[in-house]
Amino acid sequence: MASDVIKGLNDLLADAMVFRFKAQQRHWNIKGRHFFELHAKFEEQYNRWSELIDELAERVLSLGGTPLQTFKDVMTHAAISEAPGEADEKSMVKGTLDDFETMRKRLAQVSRAAAEVGDRTTENLLDPHIDFIAKARWMFAAFLGESV
Ligand SMILES: [Fe+2]
Repeated sequence: MASDVIKGLNDLLADAMVFRFKAQQRHWNIKGRHFFELHAKFEEQYNRWSELIDELAERVLSLGGTPLQTFKDVMTHAAISEAPGEADEKSMVKGTLDDFETMRKRLAQVSRAAAEVGDRTTENLLDPHIDFIAKARWMFAAFLGESV
């Protein structure tokens, strides 16, 4: 149903908002000998998710829905949880990988819901972000010396 797609897009909007804020906090709080690379990488992430936030909210409106309006709603809908106090690069990168996985699952779920109702526009909006996460997961895992 189209309403499932609207609900899914709002769930993703919530995830993207929490993730963006976390990426920006990581950008601010990173310390140590990889400061310059990770400071830049986390900035890349929050810029990317900012774009997605705008696209998701505008797609909700195009479908006749209302994008989430309060932080309270965002926290109710988000599957990504807040993680204050990440102290070192390893926990920040590991936390990013966990968030990617949560986001990837939800993106795939909503893309499937869109496919079921023949909503190609939503699929086309979401699928590049699934691809982006696949590549970003590989890079962040490689930074930790792990494979995905
Ligand atoms: Fe900055």
